[in-house]
Amino acid sequence: MTKLWKKYILWFAQEHVDFRVAEFESIVNLFGLKFRHLSQQLLNPFWLVEFPSDEQALQYASRSIALRSIMELYAHGHKMPEFHEQLKTHVQTNGQQLEAFFKAETFKVTVETYNKHFSQKEKVAKIESMDYLPIEGDVNLKNPTVEWWYLEFYGLDPTAVPATADDIIFGRVLAQGQRHLIKELSLKTRKFIGNTSMDAQLSLLMANQAKVCDGDLVFDPFVGTGSLLVSAAKFGGYVLGSDIDFMMLHARCRPSRISQKVRDKDESIRANLKQYGCEQRYMDVLVADFSNPLWHNRISFDSIITDPPYGIREATEKVESKHNPKDVTRTADMVHYPSTSHYALPHLYRDLLDFAAKYLRLGGRLVCWFPFHRLQ
Ligand SMILES: C[S@@+](CC[C@H](N)C(=O)[O-])C[C@H]1O[C@@H](n2cnc3c(N)ncnc32)[C@H](O)[C@@H]1O
Repeated sequence: MTKLWKKYILWFAQEHVDFRVAEFESIVNLFGLKFRHLSQQLLNPFWLVEFPSDEQALQYASRSIALRSIMELYAHGHKMPEFHEQLKTHVQTNGQQLEAFFKAETFKVTVETYNKHFSQKEKVAKIESMDYLPIEGDVNLKNPTVEWWYLEFYGLDPTAVPATADDIIFGRVLAQGQRHLIKELSLKTRKFIGNTSMDAQLSLLMANQAKVCDGDLVFDPFVGTGSLLVSAAKFGGYVLGSDIDFMMLHARCRPSRISQKVRDKDESIRANLKQYGCEQRYMDVLVADFSNPLWHNRISFDSIITDPPYGIREATEKVESKHNPKDVTRTADMVHYPSTSHYALPHLYRDLLDFAAKYLRLGGRLVCWFPFHRLQ
């Protein structure tokens, strides 16, 4: 049986563009979605893609942080006459399926431009240029039953804006992406943060690349204030972390907010998870040096998501025992005070890869930052 593919517009935020493809592929892989690319320019704020059904398209939108909204494509052209021709043909050929939307009680048409500003008057003129659309409902800008988007794209270069749009697109909004989570998990309002806390958007993108899903066991071996655990827990992971810094893990380090002189007594990674309604996903965090093996052979993580120290804002150190063979006064029952030494980045990354190879389940992912410039 042949599958009927449907065309969609993915409208992305132009932020952290480098992670867009990786996030898309991870989500598609996580849900086992089928798709076909119609766009070549993956850095543009929109992609035209095909999914076999609205259900699959909605599944993708239910996880994407990079996505602003997903729309069912009605028309796409490079010149105005071509665009209007396509839109008219689409409406005629799909009249029956579209009827309910055109007859909806209320509607809204949003005009969005990229790399060019339109005045309100120009936007209204664009909407009026499509007066052949058989829309019957009333305008409702706040809470419409149906929302269509008219998009004009003027390239990516603000110093070379073309006279006419490169792409003109029209479609019906199906769903928004998950960008509301960026505000919901913002560091600005988070209970416990430190100087190296990872921004909410990047943490969420990392959790998506790790394909975290309900019931996963997720570990961060350089957990700091636990930002990466927050996003993993938000997507249903049970989270564990470790860090060498006792003061950080116990929220006894100096506060990083200018307005805060002393830390609140109840600041902790657990309190952060509680703040976001996922306390039950908290397993534990422990003070441990990553260079010293700690875990039982049989433990297996679904993903490891981490932001290792680069030695810029935080020390890269490990614990070691320095024995002086010449020290004849030392006996076995004496208290041992471990000392620390520099944890060179190549060793740290080698340990991380070895650890992932040993403790990740088959198919599980290691998602981490990699300072190429410092490792060359
Ligand atoms: C870039 S920070 C991680 C920040 C964290 N993602 C957050 O959101 O707060 C790196 C962390 O690695 C820890 N660290 C440094 N050396 C370590 C070691 N040998 N073992 C475990 N943790 C270590 C530091 O204490 C620091 O908290």
